[in-house]
Amino acid sequence: MSSPLKEGIFWEIHSGLPREGPGDNASTSKAFSMLTDLPDAPFILDIACGPGMQTMELARLCNGDIVALDTHQEFLDELDRRAVAAKVEDRVTTVNASMFELPFDEDSFDLIWCEGAIYILGFEEGLTQWRPLLKNKGYLAVTNACYLKSEIPDAVRKMWESDYPGITTIENSLEAITLSGYKSLDHFILPSSSWMDNYYTPKEERIKMLRTKYIGNADALKELDESQSEVDMYRKYSDFYGYVFFVMQSAE
Ligand SMILES: C[S@@+](CC[C@H](N)C(=O)[O-])C[C@H]1O[C@@H](n2cnc3c(N)ncnc32)[C@H](O)[C@@H]1O
Repeated sequence: MSSPLKEGIFWEIHSGLPREGPGDNASTSKAFSMLTDLPDAPFILDIACGPGMQTMELARLCNGDIVALDTHQEFLDELDRRAVAAKVEDRVTTVNASMFELPFDEDSFDLIWCEGAIYILGFEEGLTQWRPLLKNKGYLAVTNACYLKSEIPDAVRKMWESDYPGITTIENSLEAITLSGYKSLDHFILPSSSWMDNYYTPKEERIKMLRTKYIGNADALKELDESQSEVDMYRKYSDFYGYVFFVMQSAE
């Protein structure tokens, strides 16, 4: 369990960033365009929405109602503000609940969306547990970290073993999709700009600012170093891992 100091720094690094993981509106839009048979006003569940950049893009892309779920109330409040500013608050409903205990009936959604967070449950677990919530032939679109090459440097393996031991290749992920009862419609690797523009660059600026605030505080500076090293690793090793958008349809 994190110490109060660690948690304090974590949220100080993360609060108020445009988004909480790699992604961008162009990639959200590209994945959405692959859902050819969605109703005009689909009922959508956005799991682990964070501050909701992708939720807002989904609201722009269709006339559907979106339930945006997360466990961190501050993100949900930010999304509520964004929805009001864009005048879509009647179509975006935030829910504070965990993906481990989703409070929804089976056969509820035309589309389930999850950018950057299925790893919390585990890729196969997420695919399996969420499928019953989809209506017949409903869609699921998720992003997940994958290895992009067969030979992975030790430093990269070590990092992922600690952060997300379930990381695997695109091929293995596609196999898991089929085995979990979906038809894969398409997949693509997120561009490196989706790591930098909305996520790592604002995060680095925040880290720089907090270094000044916490000067002389060894615990806080260590935490900031760890956060910075994640960005440095990506700069050095982005050929070897990336986020992949997987778009699929429930097979029955
Ligand atoms: C990597 S961020 C992704 C956020 C957003 N989808 C994005 O791409 O900006 C992961 C999100 O998962 C949320 N989260 C963590 N544990 C969760 C859980 N058990 N159920 C739902 N959301 C959770 C965090 O609060 C955070 O917003």
